[in-house]
Amino acid sequence: MSLKDKVIIITGAASGIGLETSKHLAAKEAKLSLADLQEKPLKELEAELQKSGAQVFAAVVDVTDRKQVEDWIAATVQKFGKLDGAANLAGVIGNQNNIAKVEEIDDDDWDFIMGVNTKGLLNCLRAEIPNFNNGGAIVNAASILGLMGSRKNIAYVASKHAVVGMTRAAAKELGERNIRCNCFCPGPIDTPMFRQSAAIRGTKLDLSHLALNRAAAPSEVPPLIEFLLSENSSFITGNVVPIDGGWYC
Ligand SMILES: NC(=O)c1ccc[n+]([C@@H]2O[C@H](COP(=O)([O-])OP(=O)(O)OC[C@H]3O[C@@H](n4cnc5c(N)ncnc54)[C@H](O)[C@@H]3O)[C@@H](O)[C@H]2O)c1
Repeated sequence: MSLKDKVIIITGAASGIGLETSKHLAAKEAKLSLADLQEKPLKELEAELQKSGAQVFAAVVDVTDRKQVEDWIAATVQKFGKLDGAANLAGVIGNQNNIAKVEEIDDDDWDFIMGVNTKGLLNCLRAEIPNFNNGGAIVNAASILGLMGSRKNIAYVASKHAVVGMTRAAAKELGERNIRCNCFCPGPIDTPMFRQSAAIRGTKLDLSHLALNRAAAPSEVPPLIEFLLSENSSFITGNVVPIDGGWYC
């Protein structure tokens, strides 16, 4: 039931949840193919993991570019001979411009966020699926804002609701090939994205609306991703799993 020798691809691997997931799965002896836009931290991570004995391949990939995604996954299968699982974690929350009311949001900001969070995910799914030859597992990063609204955040909220829908739609199709597809919905996880968002929004770190009254460390997420990628979750598909410190409840 472990991920030892399983070939797993991870997008958004250079930072935050993706970075911690890469380290966590390398420690479980999975064979990893990592992708991100940010070359320097990605290559540093690759070198660090290789030094510790892990089998890792990293590529600079923009998930919004379908050809780049296809080439990366083809190179992964050529190197490791198969594909067993995918953690589609790359995502963006947007910059200062995105902190706009519904009637004020700019077309470019909408297209940027939807482009990475939904079209980017679509590019990954359609490149991954044909490469699963013997079943498989897909885990997508949605958000607790994929389940509820938030002020001045319509593009991100819409994009993460779409991730939930895409997960469910894909799961319905893929079950007959024994490919499972789930997503997780993080609440506040203390990553660069979370800090950037809090800084832009001027959010006071009042997290009293969460039962646990705190943000999570990024290292608290990978065990859930590992579970959803492994055979320990063999009867779980099309599901949406909050990891939110008791916000949604
Ligand atoms: N941190 C949170 O509180 C939180 C909450 C809910 C959901 N999420 C989701 O979890 C996922 C990971 O978030 P995080 O907090 O680790 O963010 P992060 O910003 O720390 O990491 C995201 C990574 O995705 C990469 N990326 C962005 N656009 C890309 C592209 N076009 N192609 C390839 N890589 C790209 C970035 O370079 C970065 O390394 C995201 O999908 C995010 O929306 C995070």
